[in-house]
Amino acid sequence: MEELEKLKRELKDLNAEYAKIKDVPAEKRGEFGRELNAKKTEILNRIKEAEDAMLDAEVKPLDITAPCSPNEPLPEVYSVFEGSEHPLMTELDRVIEIYQLMGFDVVESRQLDDEFHMFDSLNFAKEHPARDGYDTFRTEEGLIPPAHTSTMQHRVLKAYKHNLEEGKEIAVVVPGRVYRNEDVDATHEHTFYQCEGVYVSKNCTLGNMLGILREFFEKYYEQKLNIRTQPGYFPFTEPSLEFMIEKPKALGGKKGDFLEMLGCGMIHPNVLKMAGIDPTEYHGFAWGGGIDRLVMLRYGLKDVRNFESGNLNFLKEF
Ligand code: DAH
Repeated sequence: MEELEKLKRELKDLNAEYAKIKDVPAEKRGEFGRELNAKKTEILNRIKEAEDAMLDAEVKPLDITAPCSPNEPLPEVYSVFEGSEHPLMTELDRVIEIYQLMGFDVVESRQLDDEFHMFDSLNFAKEHPARDGYDTFRTEEGLIPPAHTSTMQHRVLKAYKHNLEEGKEIAVVVPGRVYRNEDVDATHEHTFYQCEGVYVSKNCTLGNMLGILREFFEKYYEQKLNIRTQPGYFPFTEPSLEFMIEKPKALGGKKGDFLEMLGCGMIHPNVLKMAGIDPTEYHGFAWGGGIDRLVMLRYGLKDVRNFESGNLNFLKEF
């Protein structure tokens, strides 16, 4: 580069010499001109050589995010590994698509919520021990990273209430990331994903809900399933159920091997009332369950901690 600049400077100086021709005595002009031309040809040749050498030089790709000097060779890891979508996000998209095909709207949950949406709006009585069952984290300001996607029920009911006034139903699913302050092991994570469903209309029943859930699970696992429910307890539903599927043979299940997949029930009249919906006129059902567990069953995964671990060997399997 320096060499090239030096040559170009020489060329410029030489060109200035040509102006002197007119001052040279006539009989010497020919020789003077020939000398200048010879010098010029030589410089032009050297410029061409220098430029060709630059073109041949290896050009390194510049990764401005790499934690190394752009003029150093790239470490192997940056040049060979291509990233990909996290398997939970791929599966969550499938989940959402199945519900969308059934006519559900999608509303995203949030990462930080408050006492009202986590508990009060869901009919948890003040000081009720059920509040402790959710192992919530709290910020110093008293905010709560949501422990379930049910925190969105009140907002969804209010935002979609106009559907009912227009003679339509409310049908919304809410995917989201949730957080629980509990001991972590192969089946428990402090951070995981849930998907909530909320449905309200004039005359819907538990039977409708079971139909929707069966349809969802059979689509997700791409096969017919045996389902079962057992009584549960949630302050925001009455009655409350736990929804179970029989672990499919193809996924290593035996007959009678029922797995609890989510909590559900008819939305408690108080929850509807708090959102300004008349429970004597409208009924609703809701459900919520973990996405991680759903995905683990589909792929035969044994340890939920892999999802949040950032373990590349695990992620590369998908
Ligand atoms: N939020 C509950 C949990 O995380 C699950 C649940 C139960 C959601 C009943 C619902 C419901 O919408 O109606 O344990």
